[in-house]
Amino acid sequence: MNVIQNNKELQNLISSMRKENAKIAFVPTMGNLHRGHLSLIELAKKHANYVIVSIFVNPIQFNDDDDFNNYPRTVESDIDKLNSADVDLLFLPSRQDLFPLGTEFATQIHIPEISDDLCGRVRPGHFEGVASVVLRLFNIVKPDIAIFGQKDFQQKLLIERMICDLALNIKVITAPIIREADGLAMSSRNQFLSASKRHEACNLYRVIKEVQYDIHKNYDKFSLLEKNLKKELTKYGFSVDYIAIRSSINLNLPEKECKNLIILVSAIIDNVRLIDNILIDCN
Ligand code: PAJ
Repeated sequence: MNVIQNNKELQNLISSMRKENAKIAFVPTMGNLHRGHLSLIELAKKHANYVIVSIFVNPIQFNDDDDFNNYPRTVESDIDKLNSADVDLLFLPSRQDLFPLGTEFATQIHIPEISDDLCGRVRPGHFEGVASVVLRLFNIVKPDIAIFGQKDFQQKLLIERMICDLALNIKVITAPIIREADGLAMSSRNQFLSASKRHEACNLYRVIKEVQYDIHKNYDKFSLLEKNLKKELTKYGFSVDYIAIRSSINLNLPEKECKNLIILVSAIIDNVRLIDNILIDCN
C-alpha cells in the first residue's frame, strides 16, 4: 500500500491510475479503524479497480475542542489494518492540504434543511464541517465511487445531496451497519464507555429494533411511539438528543403513504454520544 502525505505525489499516482482507465473507489475516514470501516473497504473493492482510503481528523466538524483533541488517533495500527485489507493507497492529508489558508475563514458548504435537522440541530455547524471537508477530499481524489456507512445515515444523505446539487460525477454506495455481538453499532467512540455503561449501551439498538415491528400498525401514532422510546431509553440511563421516525428518502416527516421509513436515534450515555438507525421497508 502506498502511504501518501503529500498532495503532489497523490496527483501523480492518481493520474497513472486514470491512464489505465481504472475505476477508483474512495473511503473517507477519521481513522481509529474498526470492522465497520473495513467493511466499507471490502465493498469498495467489489466496485472498483483501486481503493483509496483517507484518514483525517477534521477539526471543523467537531463542536468542541476537547472532543477534537480527545478523538483517538492510531495511525500506525490503522496502517497495519489497511495493509491487511489490501488497500491500494492511503492518503493522510495535512491540515495545510485541506485548508491552505487556515480553517477560520475557509469556504464552507451549507446544504440547507438537512444540515439543520436531527444531528445538525444537536451539533450546530457539524454538517457544514463534514460537507466542506468531503468536497475538498473529492476534489483532490476525484473518485468514481465513494463509500459511506449507513451508520451515519444523515451524513450519507447530505453527501448525496451535495453530489447532486454540485454536479459531481461520483456514485455513492452505502454500506450496512456493522455491530458488536450485542448489537451496539461499532464506533470509535465506544471505547470511551465504562464497562458498566458499555453493558447498558446495547439497549439503544435493542429498543429501536423492537419497535420496528409495531410501526406498520401505528402510522398515525409516530409521535407517541417516539415519546415511549425516549422514556424507555431514559430508564436505561440515556440522555436522548432525538428519536425520530422519518422518511428514509429525505428524512422528512413521513406522509401516510410513505413506504420507506427509518428510525434514527442519538443519545448520550456516560458522556458519549451514540447514534444508530434502522431502515424499515413497509412495501
Ligand atoms: P468516520 O467516523 O471515521 O467514519 C468513516 C465512515 O465509516 C463513514 O462513512 C461511517 O458511516 C462509516 N462507519 C462508521 N462506523 C460504522 C459501522 N459500525 N458500520 C458501517 N460503517 C461505519 O464519518 C466520518 O468519519 C467523517 O464524518 C468523514 C466522512 C470522514 C468526514 O470527515
